Amino acid sequence: MYETRVLSGMRPTGALHLGHYHGVLKNWVRLQTEYPCLFFVADWHALTTDYEKPGDLQKSGLEMTIDWLASGVDPNQATLFIQSHIPEHAELFLLLAMMAPLGWLERVPTYKDQQEKLADKDLTTYGFLGYPLLQASDILIYRAKYVPVGEDQVPHIEFAREIARRFNHLYGRESGFEEKTKAAVKKMGSKKARLLNELRTKFLQQGDAEALKRAHALLDEQQNLPRGDRERLYGWMEGTGRRILAEPEALLTEASRLHGLDGQKMSKSYGNAIALREEPEAVAKKIRTMPTDPARVKRSDAGNPDVCPVWPLHLVYSDAARKDWVRKGCTTAGIGCLECKQPVIDAVNAELAPIRERAQAYLDDPTLVKNILADGGERARKLATETIRDVREAIGTHYA
Ligand code: TRP
Ligand code: SF4
Repeated sequence: MYETRVLSGMRPTGALHLGHYHGVLKNWVRLQTEYPCLFFVADWHALTTDYEKPGDLQKSGLEMTIDWLASGVDPNQATLFIQSHIPEHAELFLLLAMMAPLGWLERVPTYKDQQEKLADKDLTTYGFLGYPLLQASDILIYRAKYVPVGEDQVPHIEFAREIARRFNHLYGRESGFEEKTKAAVKKMGSKKARLLNELRTKFLQQGDAEALKRAHALLDEQQNLPRGDRERLYGWMEGTGRRILAEPEALLTEASRLHGLDGQKMSKSYGNAIALREEPEAVAKKIRTMPTDPARVKRSDAGNPDVCPVWPLHLVYSDAARKDWVRKGCTTAGIGCLECKQPVIDAVNAELAPIRERAQAYLDDPTLVKNILADGGERARKLATETIRDVREAIGTHYA
């Protein structure tokens, strides 16, 4: 069956924090119940910016995977694996590199941005320039349809779409494509064949995107057609050759509303984060020492929640009644800041308790995590092998 696969990757950064939980991880946990999901540790990606000091990739990858699992990512629903365990990512990257226009890579916005922002790192490498192509390979090797990513990554998904289109255009023209396609249409039966022809005309002559959508839905339903036939028909519909690589779409992950302890974006490198496995006392201490509205020098000074970094935490953790209590208490100096922070401390610790507990089981027995990643790797490899077989055949490196 042609599944609607979801795929996403994360660089191995070690232990994750509450910002990851409220942004990415809760989203993954929801998606895993809706689609077949593949989530992987992007260890090769870490090397594109940190080849000089990669750190302990295995350790950071395991720590991060523990936090995925502790947050509710379920290895029985989703496939979890490590990028470098699947050499097909690298083979596809190599083959796509032959046809990836240099100009496209240079124009990916993160290329110049990151070189400016990470000025202390050497980013004048071939690997760094090629990083969006590696990401495209990660996606295309699984023919993933949806890729949940943050806003900064959307141009990379667009790049992957363009590369897939270019590849199909260059190599989807197998010999006998026309005849094979005609035969495939026939197999659908005369009624559906007529409908498909109509939809194709509407799309190709009038650019009717709705017609293309309906045609895709119709083809998705043709589970009896061999996959090769369906891939020909997808391509034929769009006026190209056989579809070998599928164009993915970005699923925009909403930025986490949870800011860091200083009101900036939560990030380990800013030192303003609460780790998912932070001890309760440490959580309490971090929140108690958070800055508040600087106007509240004395307990009797009134404050304004809108300029206080504690307020966004109440927006996430407090109900309407408590938010009311904060607003009134703060603006009238009716409550003190420590009093105001206590319910947030309790709510964060209540949220982290089950996460910490689930993490402990994996910390006690890391082989559990290794086994999960090995199983996931095996499943992922099967899917990747199917795609690379078609890719090799299309390019001519299959040597049958
Ligand atoms: N580039 C992504 C990041 O830095 C991580 C990543 C690598 C990824 N490969 C991917 C995300 C494939 C989605 C799909 O955050
Ligand atoms: Fe911030 Fe609460 Fe203190 Fe007001 S009372 S300044 S919202 S911590």
